Amino acid sequence: MVSTRRAFLGSAGLVGLAGQAIAEPAPAANDRIQIGLIGAGGMGQGDARFATSLPGIQLVAAADCYDGRLEHVREVWGPQVAITRDYRELLTRKDVDAVIIATPDHWHSIITVDALNAGKHVYCEKPMVQKVEDGPAVVEAQKRTGRVLQVGSQYVTSLVFQKARDLYREGSIGQLNMVEAWLDRNTALGAWQYSIPPDASEQTVDWDRFQGRAPHRPFDAKRVFRWRNYQDYGTGVAGDLFVHLLSGLHLVTSSQGPARIFATGGLRYWKDGRDVPDVMLALLDYPKSAEHPEFTLVLKVNLKAGSSNENFGFRFIGDEGIMTTSMTELTLGKAVPQKEPGYSIGTFSTAIQQEFLKQYRERYPQKPAAEPAASRENEYQYVPGDNAHLEHHRRFYNSIRTGAPSVEDAIFGYRAAGPALLCNVSYAEKRACGWDPNAMRRT
Ligand SMILES: NC(=O)c1ccc[n+]([C@@H]2O[C@H](COP(=O)([O-])OP(=O)(O)OC[C@H]3O[C@@H](n4cnc5c(N)ncnc54)[C@H](O)[C@@H]3O)[C@@H](O)[C@H]2O)c1
Repeated sequence: MVSTRRAFLGSAGLVGLAGQAIAEPAPAANDRIQIGLIGAGGMGQGDARFATSLPGIQLVAAADCYDGRLEHVREVWGPQVAITRDYRELLTRKDVDAVIIATPDHWHSIITVDALNAGKHVYCEKPMVQKVEDGPAVVEAQKRTGRVLQVGSQYVTSLVFQKARDLYREGSIGQLNMVEAWLDRNTALGAWQYSIPPDASEQTVDWDRFQGRAPHRPFDAKRVFRWRNYQDYGTGVAGDLFVHLLSGLHLVTSSQGPARIFATGGLRYWKDGRDVPDVMLALLDYPKSAEHPEFTLVLKVNLKAGSSNENFGFRFIGDEGIMTTSMTELTLGKAVPQKEPGYSIGTFSTAIQQEFLKQYRERYPQKPAAEPAASRENEYQYVPGDNAHLEHHRRFYNSIRTGAPSVEDAIFGYRAAGPALLCNVSYAEKRACGWDPNAMRRT
């Protein structure tokens, strides 16, 4: 038996159905994978729900710094789930094969390395690291331990990006020149104004453990439950949101990353004590590689924008077409490349104009019939019900079971997170940053 994903609906009469199926064997009944959840907040519980909805995946343990979340884990998955405030205790458990790490960003690389060293497979939420310099240790630990590591930027598994990659590889837009990508939000929750539980205190929260390597401060519930707003724990809009865009871009173009990064922005609207910008714009130069020509990337996040709750999208601009994507749709606009250089001779004397036209027509004879239609539109839409997040988890457990390569391993994760985090460095230092995308280090 195989599990497959239905693909896109092509719009009538155009490219037609474009099948994109991820086929994999269903696990044998006894092929069980037992998981531990580290960081049982919004995304962690979401990840655990996706994971345990798949055949053979069982949640056996959870670690978190806030007791209320551990209680909720038991309410949802049952009282048999072992709970602890200390993730290291979870990692010593022999019944845990793999862990989901969904803590705040400042813990990602530390727990990932500890988990790999403990022999666990790791699904780590994006961004893989909080600081650029955290990356090499994760890459090394994955290589040395040979465990599966998959970063949780689920867009790389979305049908939109799989389709965009196929069209790009087929040359549908010709030579890539520029990419524009944006992820704008227009709600308080989109700007990370998350709810603070009424029992939040130093009794219910392990504040020291939460802070970890961050500078230690007096207890502050806002810092625990709205940690993204503070550089000590989060990575701002660049690490939180640009990283998704970079992951999608790298999947589509098979790029290793940019060589030069410049970002600007500011705190324009959510002046609630946060120390990260809510508006950011970045320009990234991608050098030529075997997979793509040199091109420029423009990234944008605005946490108070537009009329819809969330705008997510890309424009891949090539010399023969433009591919535009949203979360659920992809449109390919094809343009017939211009073959003639054209002319602008109106300011020359009449005699020279005539002479120019004569020479021009000798070189570019006028065609008797009209040119073919200048453009055609190809549109694709998700089949309703597809879920990239669920599929991303399915791929992780499939890699553990079959040894198939991780779709988003430590190197892929670092090549997305490194440049995203350098946007923060560029913003803070008010200058462009250099990055070697092959060696994955600053230049
Ligand atoms: N893939 C996506 O689309 C997506 C979406 C949302 C969040 N995320 C990522 O998921 C991660 C978690 O985000 P969230 O919104 O769930 O945050 P959250 O605040 O809801 O949950 C984080 C949890 O981690 C716990 N925690 C903190 N330090 C810990 C430690 N040392 N050990 C164990 N638990 C610890 C906190 O108590 C909290 O319950 C972030 O890295 C975020 O970027 C990814």
